[in-house]
Amino acid sequence: MRVLGIETSCDETGVAVYDTQAGLLADTLYSQVDMHAAYGGVVPELASRDHTRKLLPLIQTTLDDAGLGRNDLDGIAYTAGPGLVGALMVGAATAHGMAHALGIPVLGVHHMEGHLLAPMLEETAPAFPFVALLVSGGHTQLVEVKGLGHYRLLGESVDDAAGEAFDKTAKMLGLSYPGGPAVARLAEQGDTARFRFPRPMTDRPGLDFSFSGLKTHTLTTANALREAGELDDTGRADIARAFEDAVVDTLVIKCRRALEQTGLTRLVVAGGVSANVRLRERLDTEIARRGGQTFYPRGRFCTDNGAMIAYVGAQRLAAGERDTGTMHAVPRWPLADLAPPDAS
Ligand code: KG4
Ligand code: ZN
Repeated sequence: MRVLGIETSCDETGVAVYDTQAGLLADTLYSQVDMHAAYGGVVPELASRDHTRKLLPLIQTTLDDAGLGRNDLDGIAYTAGPGLVGALMVGAATAHGMAHALGIPVLGVHHMEGHLLAPMLEETAPAFPFVALLVSGGHTQLVEVKGLGHYRLLGESVDDAAGEAFDKTAKMLGLSYPGGPAVARLAEQGDTARFRFPRPMTDRPGLDFSFSGLKTHTLTTANALREAGELDDTGRADIARAFEDAVVDTLVIKCRRALEQTGLTRLVVAGGVSANVRLRERLDTEIARRGGQTFYPRGRFCTDNGAMIAYVGAQRLAAGERDTGTMHAVPRWPLADLAPPDAS
């Protein structure tokens, strides 16, 4: 089954074609980052308008890349949530309109299920069951995954997501949006011994996260350095390093704990923050030491993309799942509400 995937939940327009026999046939991405950078974050109305401008040409480019015509498609999948509702509606309406015109099934899929299963697009894909750490701009979650649609939430952030904390730290340090890659780059020059930031909620049992206290600690440190006239390049790099070390340590401790608690050995890490090199290095070492294995999506499939949506859509559409009636665009949608396709 050949499925077109459409992702428009936030600030990237992503389109891909996934074939359940031949794998990924094409994927294209248009990033709105430059447009939003001027405002220091995503402006929802501008995001929707840009998706409207870019989506149809991008679908055509993707089909051309795959050497396919519209009539070669067997189904269409789109991100139905969670995300910005106006942005989601662009993808949902386009998918439904196209599917109706072509007389093929259409399905709204969950954005975080896309991230969760993105490592399935790699040559060394993880087998079920596994623990997944989902770390994006809007979510930080640990999930026990027994199969497609069998998700048990083990823990999540009670306040800011890890990516959000990276973005806010970047703003404090005068770095550009999106902040994660910028903070990670600056941290490379930082001295790991100068500051030690707190590792929130690691000293008590449980698998929940909290990053807002760490954010406040970062702000207090930056303000103190500014007052002392020391918020120069070195000071900013040292703060970036201390912040990144604290986030990475916290995530590593909780992942280790989640594997111990579930008795599982495979760890999948996905979502924008999974692109972080130091996080990958630390997890690889720590998990291998305990006889476990780590799995990640390739770099460009860590952040938002159409391939992960085409993949999830293809699995579910091939199992007979489809939207009946109207399109879906849901800003909030807990991952644990998902069910396997045969149970829906
Ligand atoms: O998954 P994603 O593209 O969008 C959401 O679904 O939220 O994640 C975007 C987040 C942003 O907060 C961005 O700063 C962060 O991922 N990010 C990183 C890195 N690359 C992206 N954070 C830390 N290190 C990185 N290398
Ligand atoms: Zn995402």
